[in-house]
Amino acid sequence: MTENENYHLSPERQLTDAEKKLVWKKSPTHKVSEEEQRISKEVKRNWHRGEMKIANLLLEGDAGSGKTQLAKALSANFGLPYTKVTCFADMDKSDIIGAILPVISSERLEKMEPAAAENNDGEAIEYRFYPSEIVRAYQNGYLLEIQEPNVIRDAAVLMALNSALELDGSINLPTEIIRRHPDFIAVITTNRSYAGTRPLNEALRDRVQHTEKMDLPTKEIMIERVMAKTGFQDGMMLGILADMIVVLDRTARANAIKGVAGMRSFFYWADAIAGGASAKESLYHKVIYKITTDSEEIKLLEEALKNHGLLASLEEAEIEQKKNENLTTP
Ligand SMILES: Nc1ncnc2c1ncn2[C@@H]1O[C@H](COP(=O)(O)OP(=O)(O)OP(=O)(O)O)[C@@H](O)[C@H]1O
Ligand SMILES: [Mg+2]
Repeated sequence: MTENENYHLSPERQLTDAEKKLVWKKSPTHKVSEEEQRISKEVKRNWHRGEMKIANLLLEGDAGSGKTQLAKALSANFGLPYTKVTCFADMDKSDIIGAILPVISSERLEKMEPAAAENNDGEAIEYRFYPSEIVRAYQNGYLLEIQEPNVIRDAAVLMALNSALELDGSINLPTEIIRRHPDFIAVITTNRSYAGTRPLNEALRDRVQHTEKMDLPTKEIMIERVMAKTGFQDGMMLGILADMIVVLDRTARANAIKGVAGMRSFFYWADAIAGGASAKESLYHKVIYKITTDSEEIKLLEEALKNHGLLASLEEAEIEQKKNENLTTP
């Protein structure tokens, strides 16, 4: 038995071919994290324990800390199709449950002139209910990532979501009431609230049975992920880049600068350097300007790097790297 199969939740379940395609396949660059192991174990352990079942998860924390990839890894571990919904401020109920729309055959669509819809000689228009992605996952038992539900403004939408997330919950559609499939898992992913963002609705928060605080990973893990993804293996250089990302991230927060420095910046920065770009120059294009292009704010960030001695270290590392290149490429 492979490591993944240990956590399959319903080994006897038959997925359709379309569903099988939705089950995430771990890429060779995926690194199993402590969080992934912890969640997989606990969910599996409680799966058949009735009211103690763990099927609503919350991953809250830094941008780029790996929340989405963790949700996908859980899909792979549990053997459940992965789908997602990205929430937005003006979401209304039809975004949660789906919408009733007219059915128009392609034949008729061809014949239709722009204004034909109104004067179509009494021909009856058929309507059909098109369920949302949420309903599809809920009814069929998928793992659904619900991204940023904290931005939703409409209280009725939050209510619908809350009642759906009960372990024995249901969703009222115009056509029928659907029950929560026993395999349905909701993974809420959200950035930690900071000044200016709304916190996650308390009732929704109360519905989750396991929460992970997702921070920028440790320096070692940051470097491990970058090496895996980019193939760049210069540990000394990567160590300095990681330190710089951390200092920039902290400084941005401390000074209420809106942008982020995180794993995504790190990947592209390291990759640019691996491709021969100057570390100092690409620092601006891959990291700093992504945080801000405001001159005053940039000064603050540069100051912080200087105070930590990191700009000097970067220059040294670059000289060292050039030397090594000259040694290896005659
Ligand atoms: N366990 C892992 N192993 C290797 N790479 C990872 C891992 N987790 C995340 N990454 C990489 O880090 C980057 C950011 O990950 P991800 O998109 O999951 O972050 P996120 O927390 O969902 O970010 P956001 O808050 O912006 O949605 C991606 O390029 C992803 O491939
Ligand atoms: Mg994400």
